Amino acid sequence: MKRLLITVFAALSVLTAPAWARDWQTIQASGKLHAITEGAFYPFNYFEGQTLTGFEVELAEAIAKELGLAIEWRTVPFDAQIAAIQQGRYDFAIASHGYTEQRAKAVDFTNPHYCTGGMIAARKDGPLTVKALAGKTVAVQIGTSYLENARKIPGLKALKTYKSDPEAFAALKAGKVDAWISDRFLVKATLEKNGDPNLAAGEQVFYERVSMILQKNNPELKEKLNEGLAAIMRNGVYQRLSQKYFGEDVSCPE
Ligand code: ARG
Repeated sequence: MKRLLITVFAALSVLTAPAWARDWQTIQASGKLHAITEGAFYPFNYFEGQTLTGFEVELAEAIAKELGLAIEWRTVPFDAQIAAIQQGRYDFAIASHGYTEQRAKAVDFTNPHYCTGGMIAARKDGPLTVKALAGKTVAVQIGTSYLENARKIPGLKALKTYKSDPEAFAALKAGKVDAWISDRFLVKATLEKNGDPNLAAGEQVFYERVSMILQKNNPELKEKLNEGLAAIMRNGVYQRLSQKYFGEDVSCPE
């Protein structure tokens, strides 16, 4: 009986024990950072054929290089990433997480790698301002700051959530919703790339600072990621990537 109890306790503690993310020493010894992103947030992280790429993917690669490491990438649905990081399953995520107090209770944020905001897109004759959204239906990706901020817009008829941002955009294109709220750079790039001439970008709804996220209580890893980011901001790599993807400097004003 005693033995059985001990076994049961041991099994339970494995299940409930917090999983610690790898510390800097372990990461360094392995030569690789385990990073996650989504792969469906153009042009920040997306697939070109089979290849994962984008501003954030190239940025993380450049940061890793500064730290003398390679990256082993995995893609995880956006709304599952905070839990995955909290559970210590990966070292960090770079998938356009805007800083929010609520998220900061669950994970740590590095210094921001860009500043941006949520923006409305709609038909040219549709609701292009926050005010005009009253009585309208809006598409957003689940788990995002667009959802949180759209909830605050007075008088919306319906808020429809989609698993990925391209699905939310597709709903707008198909006329299933009146408007879509997403990242302002993404809206611009998406409308340019595969937009319908009847669609337009509208008002910016809110502002946010976007960072990499990592498990709490991993100060050395956070410091290293910040150091790597600072280094590529100093040596011109950040600027080159920002120009390549956006034709402008997307870094946060000091
Ligand atoms: N910036 C928004 C947020 O923080 C959306 C990020 C969505 N990222 C993604 N890879 N789909 O919630």
